[in-house]
Amino acid sequence: MVAGNWKMNGNIELAKQMMDTLNGANLTDVDVLVCPPFPFISAFNSLKGAIGGQNLSEFDSGAHTGEVSGSMLKSVGCDFVLVGHSERRTDNGESDKLVAEKVSVALKHGLTPVLCVGEPESVRDSGEFFNHIQAQIEAVINVIGIDDFDNIVVAYEPVWAIGTGKTASPLQAQEVHAFIREYLRKLNADIANGLRILYGGSVKAANANELFSQPDVDGGLIGGASLDPQEFLNICLAAKG
Ligand code: 13P
Repeated sequence: MVAGNWKMNGNIELAKQMMDTLNGANLTDVDVLVCPPFPFISAFNSLKGAIGGQNLSEFDSGAHTGEVSGSMLKSVGCDFVLVGHSERRTDNGESDKLVAEKVSVALKHGLTPVLCVGEPESVRDSGEFFNHIQAQIEAVINVIGIDDFDNIVVAYEPVWAIGTGKTASPLQAQEVHAFIREYLRKLNADIANGLRILYGGSVKAANANELFSQPDVDGGLIGGASLDPQEFLNICLAAKG
């Protein structure tokens, strides 16, 4: 699976170009997901692929100015939603507990949450990154249990690799992905084995193949490179194998 996270970038023209590029390619063997900013979601309505939001409210409706609910995303054609992206954890102070609540709300609305986890550079340097990532996932299990993980995608995005051009090496990515799968395997082996774990952090067409060929890397969550239709298509093709 290859997911593009536009973050707060792009415009309606780019949405049209991206859709034309992806729809014109043969991507039958790869699950493609595009997560544009909310105003451009409808522009992707005829995408041969899935559409996702970049965030959702923990509330269902009401007096929450500026928020977007899970049911709203669903009603405009989203099947996925990013939850707990590191930029939301940092910019908006989203805690592990709030992220877990949002995962639960997304599931309730029939959206597949793409649960983003990953350690900042200081935690990587301290060697505590496995504990950090485990705590982020454990917070979600504490709220929804393990069984719903068959409706979740996990994205490992080391914060030090996001937008920095400093990609985790394929072995560093594999090490963490295997750790996540092994941790979940102790709770439910079938769910752990079937779980899609995406890698995110400076993925480009030039490094996608090597990252995606790691045994526990099931695709990518792409930021900057998902804004260039041809580059994003080439990453999708790399996932095809
Ligand atoms: P970059 O690919 O720009 O490093 O961003 C990764 C990311 O945060 C995707 O969600």
